[in-house]
Amino acid sequence: MKYQKPKGTADILPPFSKEWQFVEQNARETFALYNYEEIRTPIFEKFEVFSRSAGDTSDIVTKEMYDFDDKGGRHIALRPEGTAGVVRAFVENKLYGPEHQKPVKVYYMGPMFRYERPQSGRLREFHQIGVEAFGSDSPKIDVETIMMGMDFLKKLKVSGLKLVINTLGDKESRDRYRQALIDYLEPHFEELSDDSKARLHKNPLRVLDSKDKNDQKIVENAPEILDFLTEDAQKHFTSVKEELDTLGVDYVVDSSMVRGLDYYNHTIFEIMIADSPLGKGDVTICAGGRYNGLVEELGGPEVSGVGFGLGVERLLLLLNAETQTTLQSKQLDFYVVGIGDLVQNDVLKVVHELRQMNFVTEQDYLDRKPKAQFKSADKLNAKYVVTIGESEMNDRVFKLKDMHSGEERTVALSEINTLKDLLK
Ligand code: HAM
Repeated sequence: MKYQKPKGTADILPPFSKEWQFVEQNARETFALYNYEEIRTPIFEKFEVFSRSAGDTSDIVTKEMYDFDDKGGRHIALRPEGTAGVVRAFVENKLYGPEHQKPVKVYYMGPMFRYERPQSGRLREFHQIGVEAFGSDSPKIDVETIMMGMDFLKKLKVSGLKLVINTLGDKESRDRYRQALIDYLEPHFEELSDDSKARLHKNPLRVLDSKDKNDQKIVENAPEILDFLTEDAQKHFTSVKEELDTLGVDYVVDSSMVRGLDYYNHTIFEIMIADSPLGKGDVTICAGGRYNGLVEELGGPEVSGVGFGLGVERLLLLLNAETQTTLQSKQLDFYVVGIGDLVQNDVLKVVHELRQMNFVTEQDYLDRKPKAQFKSADKLNAKYVVTIGESEMNDRVFKLKDMHSGEERTVALSEINTLKDLLK
């Protein structure tokens, strides 16, 4: 094959594209119930938008970014995630201004790019559905965000979900914890992987997230963030847990969970699924948390934020068989069969009028014999077949067959409008 798609990308073909539309439509409906509105931001941004936000020691920035200098010499990157661009837009368009109702709640969906090793549910061009809420420090909004992610997945009948939460505390908690981690890890310095050696002093929390087996063994006994929380941070986390309890949501606290992006503090969470088509063990489909300070980092005022991102490709692998079959099955309202060259104008008009009445209508485009046209109507699962031959044309009528009951009747061309209630 001469041309192939780049490694780690996918073509989304019909009828599978219907599953995408279904998921996107459900997301829009769910988020609207929580009063979120859509935001669309560029697919590429200045490199610094991501390096300042995701953190310059994160894998995403150091290893996975699709970045390049454009013809004007600007350092550009394809977005590896949605939050940074949304925060940049929030600041640039002053959405923090008094005319905007707080919290400002937005959602987005679209392609993201990370240079990763492709595998099932992991691509280089992948798609996220994400939400962000700005301007509230209340634990309520952390919980609302989590609930919205859970609601959405439940609406799509994804089963076996596991909610895992943790807190990274506020800046003071983090500073204390950082020092404790460095003190713990320093004696192990020589045993650490090269990545972790480089990160130990710059960002020791990254070491906790290392994929290296030996690093993982070392951090098993590392101190836990929960022992270093300030009173405020503790209070915030307790409220989040209490509210989840009030809503009857099951969750697990994993005090060793850190996220792959550096902008988080306070609540972080992941919605995972165990031993699914995504793979053995827990795989995360939806992840997010609070990021107070990020708006300031990108040049805005002190406004807090919280949100999540959900991997669409992963979600699609989890749709149940029934949903998939329903979405992929074809159904046409009308197929219009024309017999002979002379009737083509009538066919043209009937097809046009049926579409004007909002019926999904098909016809033959290949000058095929009636038998082949009837076969197509069958294949496309048409509910009704209209037939126009020369005698029908002369009588200014057409034949209408109900494919379900087998009933056939004759309808005057001038009365085609009476069909408009047919499928109600
Ligand atoms: P993230 O954890 O990097 O967070 O990504 C969120 C989700 O995107 C993952 O749980 C996964 O389902 C999906 N995902 C990530 N990388 C890939 C990939 N290479 N292929 C397929 N799916 C992938 C964020 O991106 C944050 N912006 C989430 C957020 C929003 N936090 C606050 N607001």
